[in-house]
Amino acid sequence: MKSKCLLEKYREYLPLTNSTPIISIGEGDTPLVRSKFLEGQTGCGALYFKLEGCNPTGSFKDRGMVVAVAKATEERNRAIICASTGNTSASAAAYGAIFGLKVLVVVPRGNIALGKLAQAMIYGAEILAIDGNFDRALELVRAITDRHPIILVNSLNPHRIEGQKTAAFEIIDTLGDAPDCLFIPVGNAGNITAYWKGFLDYKRAGKAGKTPRMMGFEAEGSAAIVKGKPIPDPTTFASAIRIGNPASWQKAVAARDESGGIIDIVTDAEILEAYQLLGSREGIFGEPASAASVAGLIKMSKNGHDFSSKQIVCIVTGSGLKDPDTAIRNARQPFELPANLDALEKAIGGF
Ligand code: F0G
Repeated sequence: MKSKCLLEKYREYLPLTNSTPIISIGEGDTPLVRSKFLEGQTGCGALYFKLEGCNPTGSFKDRGMVVAVAKATEERNRAIICASTGNTSASAAAYGAIFGLKVLVVVPRGNIALGKLAQAMIYGAEILAIDGNFDRALELVRAITDRHPIILVNSLNPHRIEGQKTAAFEIIDTLGDAPDCLFIPVGNAGNITAYWKGFLDYKRAGKAGKTPRMMGFEAEGSAAIVKGKPIPDPTTFASAIRIGNPASWQKAVAARDESGGIIDIVTDAEILEAYQLLGSREGIFGEPASAASVAGLIKMSKNGHDFSSKQIVCIVTGSGLKDPDTAIRNARQPFELPANLDALEKAIGGF
């Protein structure tokens, strides 16, 4: 049983007042599990995965959305809007539903994973599918919120960052201190910004003795920060991080530099390999974008980085169930056979 909800547990670190509604659908308190296979493969002293897919809508967005929606409601707003590659829209739709808010989600048409679309639909959001990519969607929702009394719940909303930083608190609460390195996928760059803030806040509060090196990874076809310029037509099969002009670009760079970390590229082939290994060797079904963190660790270890004395945490940002099409396209296909014992014995071979 979860004793306290996220808003209660970390209240003193969050921008809450006495009139902020305390809501929860079970966000936060996600597992930090020790690696069984990749720890040895990558030669880490200790390797953990933070399973953010265990949040109620299946991604880390719920941590930020619970704060953003509670604050929007406290301030008597009745409508929220976001641009999304899918997860933000699912989360906004769920938390908006708790208060009966009007939830407007602007997504790139045909380019979000099926499970995420299904979530936003069943939670009752207005889905506006544009002929454009995430970056265009974000430009449009920013313009709309300048003109109308609708609250923006992308990570440009500071309450989102405040909520998402609680994942860093949980890691420290579990390990007793910050890890040496934190590996994390980078898309719009809100999450790396949030973790860094969380690590700094906890260090300042005396809850941690150190801060980790922040190791962010962009997909090669969408690597604006690494390439130093916006990508007008970003590509990658990891649709959640198909973003060419990250909103929190400068904050991500600050997190990298202040922490002594890096932001680097992983190719789609590297992301795919990490996605498959997480599933087949660790029993962890993350979505493709989530595997970018693990792909980054594998890449660095192959390039000769020595992590043997290091405690490493990789963030698995979302559940693989959100994107069944990608899983089915990239795994061994089911064996079809008649419903009889002979055929089944033949199919399973000699045990
Ligand atoms: N992993 C997943 C599963 C995501 O959904 C996202 C972003 C990221 C990583 C990257 O995080 O943007 O904070 O750097 N998804 C957003 C969305 C953009 O609309 O759901 P970031």
